[in-house]
Amino acid sequence: MELLEIVKFAEEYLLKYSFSKPRLEAEKIISYVLNLDRIGLYTNFELVLSIEEKNEIKKYLKRMVEENSSFDKLEKNKNSDFKEVNMELLEKTKKYLKDYGVEEYKLDSEYIFSTALGCNRSFLSIQLSKELNIEVLNEIKRMTILRGKFRKPIQQILGNWEFYGYPFKINENVLIPRSDTEILVEQCKFLMMDKIDVKILDIGTGSGAISVVLGKELSNSAILGVDISEEALKMAKINAELNNTKNVSFRKSDIFSAVTETYELIVSNPPYIPKDEYEELQIEVKNHEPKLALTDNGDGYFFYEKITKEAGKYLKEGGYLAFEVGYNQAEKVSDLMIQNKLKVVKIVNDYGGKARVVIGIKSGEEADVNKIIGL
Ligand SMILES: C[S@@+](CC[C@H](N)C(=O)[O-])C[C@H]1O[C@@H](n2cnc3c(N)ncnc32)[C@H](O)[C@@H]1O
Repeated sequence: MELLEIVKFAEEYLLKYSFSKPRLEAEKIISYVLNLDRIGLYTNFELVLSIEEKNEIKKYLKRMVEENSSFDKLEKNKNSDFKEVNMELLEKTKKYLKDYGVEEYKLDSEYIFSTALGCNRSFLSIQLSKELNIEVLNEIKRMTILRGKFRKPIQQILGNWEFYGYPFKINENVLIPRSDTEILVEQCKFLMMDKIDVKILDIGTGSGAISVVLGKELSNSAILGVDISEEALKMAKINAELNNTKNVSFRKSDIFSAVTETYELIVSNPPYIPKDEYEELQIEVKNHEPKLALTDNGDGYFFYEKITKEAGKYLKEGGYLAFEVGYNQAEKVSDLMIQNKLKVVKIVNDYGGKARVVIGIKSGEEADVNKIIGL
């Protein structure tokens, strides 16, 4: 039987059962089964259908008659069945994560589902009305176990994260860029934005988060990101490419060991967690993020001491040193700057009111504090 004969057959079948618009209904079923648009039915009218395709069409005709339902309604009901099943699976996933102590269990479940489905989280609800195939279900299971049982951070499971609105690739060799660090980036941006041809050094670049964002936001700048970890530097380069950042380069360096030039700005978010606090960190952080990125294995001030001591050599006159600091470190870091002949020009709080950014300047002159925004 050729396609056109099948359309005719289906139309007559539906007419017999008093369906309104039987031709239209017949076309809908057949175009759905053959994955053609309705016009395609008439451009392929000589197509010979397989037994399976004919059986599938018969199955739909039979169901429409039995349920006295139009094709659209039948599909809608089918979708709402899927939705129910999928929503149930989403709820089970949330509970699984919650039982394993995952704080953001709701959000993380949605990330897992939307990643497995290859859709944006805001379209998840639409995607959940479709049947989930076995690959998607396996992917959901894999990610859920990693997040729940193994407490792997969601960013590492997804393999990417956003920082300052830019996409970043993430793996276990780099610190996941935190929103706290966006405050530091914002300050650096305002410090440098109306200067010409500035050179910036980012010490402990990790994923390249600070370097890449400053490179994107400050087209007038040339940025060098340094890190002691070669694996981190690989990721930083990937992220610079991902964001098509042309004015950023990376180099392996133990703090200043491979740095030779002078800069308008030295920025750093160094490993600042004291050894004893490191032991108390969340499982996600302690077991999955690089220890080298988190702690100095001492009192938390090793990098601040070392960088402030040497910064004078690598800063131009009037150049800035900007640090992210731990929740209780701003005062001591400010003292370190003063001891090393840097003038503290700004301490910036996070949204919770904790001082998290300390900025100093190498200058005898008064700094232009108005250019430094506060929160
Ligand atoms: C807290 S992470 C910051 C990563 C990134 N800048 C950010 O803000 O998301 C600190 C980084 O310092 C690097 N690091 C640790 N010791 C270092 C050293 N002696 N010299 C240079 N970088 C170092 C780590 O590898 C890590 O990437």
